[in-house]
Amino acid sequence: MKEQITSIQAEVERFPIGNESELEQFRIQFVGRKGRLAALFDLLKDVPAEQRREVGQALNGLKNLAEAKFEEAQSQFAGAGAKVEIPHDLTLLDPISQGSLHPLTLVRARILEIFNRMGFSVSDGPEIETDFYNFTALNFPANHPAREMQDTFFIEKGAGEIQDDVLLRTHTSNVQIRLMQHQKPPIRSVMPGRVYRNEAISARAHCLFHQVEGLYVDKQVSFKDLKDTLYHFAKEMFGKDTKVRFRPSYFPFTEPSAEMDITCLLCKGDGCNVCKQAGWVEIAGAGMVDPNVLENVGIDSTKYNGFAFGMGIERITMLKYQIKDLRLFTENDVRFLKQFS
Ligand code: PHE
Repeated sequence: MKEQITSIQAEVERFPIGNESELEQFRIQFVGRKGRLAALFDLLKDVPAEQRREVGQALNGLKNLAEAKFEEAQSQFAGAGAKVEIPHDLTLLDPISQGSLHPLTLVRARILEIFNRMGFSVSDGPEIETDFYNFTALNFPANHPAREMQDTFFIEKGAGEIQDDVLLRTHTSNVQIRLMQHQKPPIRSVMPGRVYRNEAISARAHCLFHQVEGLYVDKQVSFKDLKDTLYHFAKEMFGKDTKVRFRPSYFPFTEPSAEMDITCLLCKGDGCNVCKQAGWVEIAGAGMVDPNVLENVGIDSTKYNGFAFGMGIERITMLKYQIKDLRLFTENDVRFLKQFS
């Protein structure tokens, strides 16, 4: 037994532990509960009583030696694993290419920037809305055909919880109402956001698109203020040479109402399929806020008046970047997206 201990001790001392698998081999052979030392401990009971003490001590010494060697090697490897390895030269350019902003995000930011400079703040509101904020407060009488102008997605009501109809907003004009309910004039704000209309998806239409609307309510606001604001916007957005025109139009919440056209930037006014051969494209609806709308939110329409306008971000982006198909905005084709920055 003593000889065995001496020879195993020599083996323990010689055993090379240079990597994790050798460490594991060492553990199995000498330290583990099924290892060779454990087997020797089992035999201790057969050693004659007068030698048992001496042999036991020698065996314990060997056990301590093996465990110390094991622990020391183990701590070395654990330390090595935790070391931060620098995978490549950090001074090289990052090979992972960066993404770019979506063209709609870029144009939205530019629109807000132009209006911010004219003193307009930015307001936000819900996309799931009640009939009151999307229609009634905006002077759409019940059953009025103007409600059909915007094919609305209605949301099915749960068991009798909400009295009013719930819908996906068809324009961001709902935010105008919410703003006027909570803020006294003067009000000067733009409202960007998603809007929904039940339209077949094509190169020119989508059931989800983005608008920016604007509202200005104060004393003695004139139609000229409206025209100047939108003229300035068009020239800032599309360049100084862009021609602009106003046409009479109809919206329930503005009176008088107008639509603003700019010369088609794709064909420079010659006529193409984007402008339907007209040479002009509509970019905004606008008008003087109907006094009924002001009264609906408790603003005295004999003291205050205002103008409002609304435009589609997709339309403006298509004109600015000469994009011919609206569907490209939602297809997430990287070849399309990476052209914008
Ligand atoms: N809300 C109108 C639309 O979505 C746009 C608009 C806003 C027109 C403000 C006039 C004034 O079509």
